Amino acid sequence: MRKPIIAGNWKMNNTASEGVALVNAIAPLVKDANCDVVVCVPAIDIPAVSEALKGTNIGLGAENVHFAEKGAYTGEISAAMLLEYGVQYVIIGHSERRQYFGETDETVNKRTLTALKAGLTPIVCVGESLEERETGKTEAVLEKQIKEGLAGVEDLTKVVIAYEPVWAIGTGKTATAAQANETIGFIRKTLGEMFCPGCAAATRIQYGGSMNAGNCKELMAMEEIDGGLIGGASLKANDFATIVNFDK
Ligand code: 13P
Repeated sequence: MRKPIIAGNWKMNNTASEGVALVNAIAPLVKDANCDVVVCVPAIDIPAVSEALKGTNIGLGAENVHFAEKGAYTGEISAAMLLEYGVQYVIIGHSERRQYFGETDETVNKRTLTALKAGLTPIVCVGESLEERETGKTEAVLEKQIKEGLAGVEDLTKVVIAYEPVWAIGTGKTATAAQANETIGFIRKTLGEMFCPGCAAATRIQYGGSMNAGNCKELMAMEEIDGGLIGGASLKANDFATIVNFDK
C-alpha cells in the first residue's frame, strides 16, 4: 500500500521567522496524521525551520537543488548543504521553475539523479499547460516529461511524482477529482512501461493545483491519488492541517 504524502510548497513566501511561526502553528494540528507530512520551504528558511521541526512528525523539504556536487554556480544550493540541515525532500522541476527559470526535462533529470544519489527524496513535478490540454497533447507532454525527467533512475519507489496541471496552479481552478485520477492513472501506466508495473504500483503520485481544505477529501478519495502538493493553502496552518487530516 502507498502511504499518502501531503507536502506544502511555500514557494517564495515566509521569511524565516514567519516560517517558524507557521510550523509552530501547524505541528500540534498534524501530530496524529496518518500520512507523511512535509513542508518545502525557501532555502534561506531551512536552518530556522529545521530547528523548529525537531520533535515533530513533519519532514523538511527544499524547493530546488543544484545537480553539481559543488563549484562555481553562483546562487545555487547543493545537496550536501541541504543534508546538513536535515532536509529529506526536494521539489524538482516545478512548473514555475520550468516557466520562469529555464528548467528543462534534462535539468530535471540531472537534479533528480543528484538528489537520489545524496539520499534526498525528489518530488518530481510534471504537468501540462491549458493549451496542451485543450489541444489533446496532455498524454504526450506527460510522457516526455516522465521519460526524460526520470531517465536512469534505478529505484523508482524512492521518487515521489507530483502531477500539477499548470492551468490549476494558483488559479483556484482544480482539476476535477475524476480528471486528476485519470491523468495520474496514465502517469502510473507510463511509469509501469518505463520501469516495471510493480514499481509503478508502489510509487506515490501526488496531485497539485488549487488543492485546499474544501476539495482535499474528494481528491484524496481517488484510487490513483496518493497525496497533494499544496501551494496557497499550505501557508495557512488550519487549511494545511485540514488537508493533512483528510482521512479524519
Ligand atoms: P496552489 O496550491 O497555490 O495552486 O499551488 C500548487 C503548487 O504549485 C504546488 O507546488
